[in-house]
Amino acid sequence: MKNKVALITGASSGIGKSTAEAFAAKGAHVVVAARRKEELDTLVASIKAKGGKASAIQTDVSKSKDVEQMVAHTIKTFGRIDYAINNAGIEGELAPITELLEESWDKVMNINLKGVFLCMKHQAKAMIKGGHSGAIVNVGSVNSFLGFPAGSAYVTSKHGLIGLTTSVSAELAPQGIRVNLLCPGITVTPMHNRIRDLFGDDLYDKGIIPKVHLQRAGLPEEMAKAILFLCSDGSSYISGSTLTVDGGLTLTM
Ligand SMILES: NC(=O)c1ccc[n+]([C@@H]2O[C@H](COP(=O)([O-])OP(=O)(O)OC[C@H]3O[C@@H](n4cnc5c(N)ncnc54)[C@H](OP(=O)(O)O)[C@@H]3O)[C@@H](O)[C@H]2O)c1
Repeated sequence: MKNKVALITGASSGIGKSTAEAFAAKGAHVVVAARRKEELDTLVASIKAKGGKASAIQTDVSKSKDVEQMVAHTIKTFGRIDYAINNAGIEGELAPITELLEESWDKVMNINLKGVFLCMKHQAKAMIKGGHSGAIVNVGSVNSFLGFPAGSAYVTSKHGLIGLTTSVSAELAPQGIRVNLLCPGITVTPMHNRIRDLFGDDLYDKGIIPKVHLQRAGLPEEMAKAILFLCSDGSSYISGSTLTVDGGLTLTM
């Protein structure tokens, strides 16, 4: 991955931040995107301090213009895109269907589903124009397969990513671009902490964690390793797939 270029959305915290650090550690040049510029700048400074190459671009993935600029910035800064990690996402308002606000539904869909569509649209154009092979990894969830009460918007957006990923995989395979969906289980990130605060420690410690075969939550670094694999030559025959990294949770639910 030395001197290859990775573009990572949702890199201001959690899984995206760890993924940017993991690519940089492998010698890739990274472009990190999210809405919070200060967090991105801190990440870029820490990658550069370790001898890596990185650049930040403030981006709201639900806005077409922002996404176009994000891709243009990547090409202008590093000349190409080899790997695109579409990780930005929100849990949104968690509420039963009878209470869920229309604007909350729209917000989750616009970031989690339309955002990935917009990103892939512009990333794929740049990759095809570059005339080289590439890999795209979208970030779904165990909720790409499983529903939960009060989670209809989030769950629907993550289910939608399966259809989006498999369709675009079929479209881009002839151009040498592989497209896959990473489906994390419970992962210790700011998102996880917010949900834990909402539902209480008991749901995690007595309800969910005992259902994980490995009896613990995952770490963002463990998701980053799986994303690196899906971009590496080690996964050269994997496209249109979902990779569940959940310590066994999905099989027990
Ligand atoms: N943690 C888990 O247990 C878990 C489990 C399954 C799946 N996932 C998925 O993993 C991905 C990363 O989540 P995380 O757990 O690392 O949560 P996180 O720490 O809250 O990170 C979410 C990232 O998405 C960015 N983001 C949100 N809205 C955005 C927007 N409109 N435009 C650009 N960036 C945006 C956030 O940055 P800004 O706020 O700065 O924009 C942040 O960098 C998400 O897609 C999530 O659904 C997480």
